[in-house]
Amino acid sequence: MESVGIAILAAGKGTRLKIDLAKALCPALGRPLVDHVVVAAKKFAASAELKASLTAVVGHKKEEVEGHLKKQFADLSFAWQKEQRGTGDALRSYFSECPDNSKHTYTFIVCADTPLVTPQTFDCLWQELKTRPTLQALAGTFVTPAPTGYGRILRGQKGFRIVEEKDATAEERKVTEVNSGFYLVKTDYLLSRLAGLNNQNKSGEFYLTDVFALDSEVTAVTYHDEREFLGVNTLEQLEQVTQILRQRKIRSLMNEGVMFYDAASSWVDCDVTIKAGTVIHPGVRLFGKTQVGANVVLESGAILQDCQIEDGAHVLAYSHLEKAIVRSKAHVGPFARLRPDSDIGADAKIGNFVEIKKSKLGTGAKVSHLSYVGDAEIGEESNIGCGFITCNYDGRDKHKTKIGSHVFIGSDVQVIAPIQIGDKSFVAAGSTVTKDVPAGGFAIARSSQSTKEGMAQRFLKSKKPS
Ligand code: UD1
Ligand code: MG
Repeated sequence: MESVGIAILAAGKGTRLKIDLAKALCPALGRPLVDHVVVAAKKFAASAELKASLTAVVGHKKEEVEGHLKKQFADLSFAWQKEQRGTGDALRSYFSECPDNSKHTYTFIVCADTPLVTPQTFDCLWQELKTRPTLQALAGTFVTPAPTGYGRILRGQKGFRIVEEKDATAEERKVTEVNSGFYLVKTDYLLSRLAGLNNQNKSGEFYLTDVFALDSEVTAVTYHDEREFLGVNTLEQLEQVTQILRQRKIRSLMNEGVMFYDAASSWVDCDVTIKAGTVIHPGVRLFGKTQVGANVVLESGAILQDCQIEDGAHVLAYSHLEKAIVRSKAHVGPFARLRPDSDIGADAKIGNFVEIKKSKLGTGAKVSHLSYVGDAEIGEESNIGCGFITCNYDGRDKHKTKIGSHVFIGSDVQVIAPIQIGDKSFVAAGSTVTKDVPAGGFAIARSSQSTKEGMAQRFLKSKKPS
């Protein structure tokens, strides 16, 4: 088995983004930029059956970047580039901080800010090296009508060299073949070239690109899809790569049998899963680790964050769901809000202008209109009328409400928690319930009505005579 080191360059400052967040951690379709690169590298290594070891070079906002990556990927190593003195210097740290990296026969180098690379991107350079084993180094390039910001590829009679935008002459800047920042190099060759780098350039940095020289043993491999290497240096480019990732994600879901009425207005984060037969109306947004089952309908304006939606469920228009479970064939919305830890039972129904928080509803339970249910349990087949409120907060603490199964609660009822309403009980409309109701009990808690005939006249405004 070949031994390969993969260097992920993630130490840079990302100055051109003009924001305080480390560039590697900027989100692209719900996943930090660097994670996209790590995921692609790992998939490539697994499919090519390579013994690969991944090392992230970290520096700027090191604690945040390293802390995140450690949580996300168990088998990553880290090299600390203490000062950000350029991509060549980053590679020096890669070897000096992790000496074992010198032992790999080959080294892949990939920038954390090119999140569109795929396992095939890696495989393309790998296959090229296999067919031309005398090559010492390969760089991925692409041709673009908008080369601004990228290093230009200057091909010579032998090999090529790379000139950075800042250092290029007006003539060189016209070159449209650019450097992707993605390389595969024999480790011995890389080490010898790194030793000779200098920082005599406009940026005063050690450029990794100077590893390549007009040398017959290096080659530039031109990729056809320039989008594979879109580098994120500005927030505009961050948005561009995000759109491409979004299109890729939706296309792959369509190929698996998920129907989108309007892909252009739908948002589906990378880690969202959706099963076949589900229909997504225009303007749906699915974030985080949301899992959607088969034959679900998600109507326009539905926003779901880290939710679990089981088969056959229906989320109606303009509902907002966060960390909630909607079990099979349940209906939610329109205009419903499910807050974290809501668990809506199979065949249950949550209607318009209903807010549910940290509550579990049994099979077939119904809360159809204008209600607040917080810190509650509602048993199966119970029907909660319009305008119901669990008064769960006394100004200091939250309290629980437990409503049994097959209960009927009339409209405009408030229950003052902590409270228990037993199975098959009945609470009359307009009641403010302060005491537990036993199973099978009937509770009514409202003042009785008194009616005075003809007295309305005293309260009604009479029209002034004209
Ligand atoms: C780099 C290339 C350029 C190429 C472009 C492709 C160099 C000198 N230039 O330019 O030819 O067209 O990528 O996107 O390599 N980094 C470190 N330590 C540092 C500096 C950077 O780890 O001291 C990391 C950054 O976090 C980033 C990557 O290296 O992930 C590339 O750095 P960046 O500053 O974005 O280089 P570009 O100007 O895009
Ligand atoms: Mg860049």
